[in-house]
Amino acid sequence: MKPNRLLALLAGCLVANAFAAETGAAPGKTVEDLVKPCAACHGADGNGTNSQYPRLAGQYHDYLARAMKEYQSGERQNAIMAGFVKTLSDADIEAISRYYAAMPGKLDDLSRHEQGD
Ligand code: HEC
Repeated sequence: MKPNRLLALLAGCLVANAFAAETGAAPGKTVEDLVKPCAACHGADGNGTNSQYPRLAGQYHDYLARAMKEYQSGERQNAIMAGFVKTLSDADIEAISRYYAAMPGKLDDLSRHEQGD
C-alpha cells in the first residue's frame, strides 16, 4: 500500500469512529437516516465520491447485505467499514441493501481509476 493511501485510510478510521458514535441504529430510524453517514464516501446517489470508495448503487441487494454482514463478523476486514456497520441490525442491513440496489448505478471506464501519484 502506498503511504498516502495508508494515511487516507487512517484518516478514514478517525472519521468512521466519530460517525459510529452517533449512528446507533435506533428503532424508528428511516433508511434515509441510516444512510446519511454513508454518503460522505459512497455518495448521496450511491456512486462513490471518488474511486477509492466502491459504488453501491445498482449492486445486487443480497451482495450488499452479505458484504455488510461480513464486515460485522470480520470475515471481510476493513477498519472503516467495520465501524459503520457495527450498530446495524439485520433489518437495517436489509433496508440499506434494497435502498442502494434500487438506485441507478453508473459504469465508467478506467480513466476515473488512474492513479496520478
Ligand atoms: C469513511 C468512508 C466510508 C463511509 C462513511 C462508509 N463506507 Fe462503506 N466502504 C468504504 C470503503 C473504503 C470500502 C471498501 C472496503 C474494502 O476494501 O473492503 C467500503 C465498502 C462498502 C461496501 C462493500 C461494497 C462492495 O462492492 O463490496 C458496502 C456494502 C458498504 N461499504 C456500505 C456502507 C454503508 C451502508 C455505509 C453507511 C452506514 C458506509 N458504507 C459508510 C468507505 C466508507
